[in-house]
Amino acid sequence: MAAWLGPARLDLTGWDERRHGADTLVAELDGIVVGFSDLRPDGLVDMLFVDPRAGGRGVARALLTAVQADARARGIVELRTLASRSARPVFERLGFTVVAERPDNTVRGVVVPNTEMRCRL
Ligand SMILES: CC(C)(COP(=O)(O)OP(=O)(O)OC[C@H]1O[C@@H](n2cnc3c(N)ncnc32)[C@H](O)[C@@H]1OP(=O)(O)O)[C@@H](O)C(=O)NCCC(=O)NCCS
Repeated sequence: MAAWLGPARLDLTGWDERRHGADTLVAELDGIVVGFSDLRPDGLVDMLFVDPRAGGRGVARALLTAVQADARARGIVELRTLASRSARPVFERLGFTVVAERPDNTVRGVVVPNTEMRCRL
């Protein structure tokens, strides 16, 4: 989590560019944002995060279902993602399949294994 979060004084320029390169969807519960995901024009789902206090209630399912519908409406035929260990079962439930394991993936010098996955729409 510390590696994902990065330093306290993070340069937000790169983050800003990444956000502008994708459409972001947010999930709300009682008017409060509890999670978000995104979709890039090339079909990459780069982000899927749910507030732990809202976890296990179908928020990620709702977000990914909306991303899939959005992608279909745009004529995107395949989604792909690099899923964290915790997110992999969620993507599998939503129809994604494993393309490759990435046990050596690093984030800011820390090994954070993830899995490349795809979903035909
Ligand atoms: C992973 C994460 C997005 C899940 O969010 P969530 O809202 O709790 O997930 P949901 O409640 O919508 O679960 C969706 C489905 O996955 C299933 N699921 C969730 N975790 C599971 C697990 N560990 N094993 C098996 N199935 C699991 C649920 O049962 C549900 O299936 P169903 O709808 O068919 O019953 C959230 O825990 C998170 O943000 N984790 C940290 C950040 C992260 O790893 N992001 C991914 C970066 S790629």
